[in-house]
Amino acid sequence: MREQTAINLPKTKKRILVADDEASMRELLGMVLESEGYSVVGVPTGRDAVQILCQERGAFDLVIQDLKMPGLDGTELLRWIKSEVPDVPVIVITAFSSWDSAVEAMRLGAYDYIRKPFDTDTIRSVVGRALERRSAILASGEGRNEDARGFEMIGNDPLIQAVFRMIKLIAPTDSTVLIQGASGTGKEIVARTIHQRSHRRDRPFLPVNCSAFTESLLESELFGHVKGAFTGAIEHKQGLFRAAHGGTLFLDEVADMSLTTQVKILRVLEERKISPVGSTELHPIDVRIIAATNKAMEEEVQAKNFREDLFYRLNVIPLYLPALRDRKDDIPLLAGHFLAKYSRQMKKEVCKISDRARQALFDYDWPGNVRELENIIQRHVALCEGDAITSLSISTRPQSAVVAVPQADYTLIPPGGVSLEEKLESYERSYLKEALKLTGGNLTTAAKLLGMTYRSIRYRVKKLRVKETVA
Ligand SMILES: Nc1ncnc2c1ncn2[C@@H]1O[C@H](COP(=O)(O)OP(=O)(O)OP(=O)(O)O)[C@@H](O)[C@H]1O
Ligand SMILES: [Mg+2]
Repeated sequence: MREQTAINLPKTKKRILVADDEASMRELLGMVLESEGYSVVGVPTGRDAVQILCQERGAFDLVIQDLKMPGLDGTELLRWIKSEVPDVPVIVITAFSSWDSAVEAMRLGAYDYIRKPFDTDTIRSVVGRALERRSAILASGEGRNEDARGFEMIGNDPLIQAVFRMIKLIAPTDSTVLIQGASGTGKEIVARTIHQRSHRRDRPFLPVNCSAFTESLLESELFGHVKGAFTGAIEHKQGLFRAAHGGTLFLDEVADMSLTTQVKILRVLEERKISPVGSTELHPIDVRIIAATNKAMEEEVQAKNFREDLFYRLNVIPLYLPALRDRKDDIPLLAGHFLAKYSRQMKKEVCKISDRARQALFDYDWPGNVRELENIIQRHVALCEGDAITSLSISTRPQSAVVAVPQADYTLIPPGGVSLEEKLESYERSYLKEALKLTGGNLTTAAKLLGMTYRSIRYRVKKLRVKETVA
């Protein structure tokens, strides 16, 4: 714990503005944050906050504000900050019961929210993350890049907070990381976050899905090949290990690699050199390896599906991602985050989730984890006609309400018989069309919505002659 405090301590004093009409709240926040080494200024109204932010432009690194204040109220203050000093992150304090206002605050661009009553550890960690994020943005010159927000990981549960601490510790090193977690728990976003926080951030991050290729294709994808190495090798290919030079190679679904490829990867990790398929030349490589799997690797090793020596090479730093059902307290935060994200993306004003819908989110056990929650919120934002999601239909398969599937026949097979292939194709076409419509024709996102790989959606779209861009 001591060590962690040392890591969290800011090098130069960061300045935090606290806007809250309750003096006791200003005092409490001031005490907690000053003991962390920050410099804190407290003001009682939104107007005072605007005044000091104008007078001392660039002097504050963070604003913590109440949502309910007399005069210029919290929402207006937040709007003002986001339009006038957008680089300053804002953490909003809301009443425990006021979930909708928290969601609204996220939609307006708040970095995070804290619900009253809160414990001081929550304050410390949310503030730490907000400031760290700001430093990363300033350092990378990302500015107001919307895409960067999409990569932001959130979560207050101790299980995910432990992962965040680990990321922070290991990112600057060059160590190999093995991320294990069920489907949709955030393995790829963790890998990207590690890369973005490493000294390799300006070099490529290249993901490769090891289960999407046959053995020989995967090898040529990774190591490259020389012209004429095999039938079809009409061009020289560099391979991902060399393309990722100076950056990070993300070996996704690593457990699905064949035993032969495993031997080759092991050799690369030991020698830090590769030779393209069909060549004996050796090329030195400089890449960090991050691997991920949704299988229990220890079991795969026991069952001899995965080489023990490679497992130890990859598992230098193990990271286990918790299932969403084991951190249900994060559901409102994540739901609010996705609501804000898709509402902004689809240019809609959906900012609320009804009590009934919220209850449904809690009651469900989320086999598809964060990805499933994200997909469900995305679909409901797309369907929502007002400013609130009032009821929620959760299904592991795409919703029939969303997808215009043909009417089902009551007697499944009419007297004259039916062409099953045609029926299936027509179903498939409807799903593909709807997914492309929802994602504005983005094949990668559409593939995710339908639980398929990019390669298979591309193939199906072509085969069924579905228009890729749907007006
Ligand atoms: N803590 C988080 N905060 C915000 N978004 C998250 C978080 N965890 C996951 N996500 C989002 O959930 C979706 C799924 O995450 P990701 O693709 O990283 O999961 P995965 O474990 O690689 O899934 P799969 O096993 O299906 O490949 C992504 O859109 C990601 O941005
Ligand atoms: Mg993944």
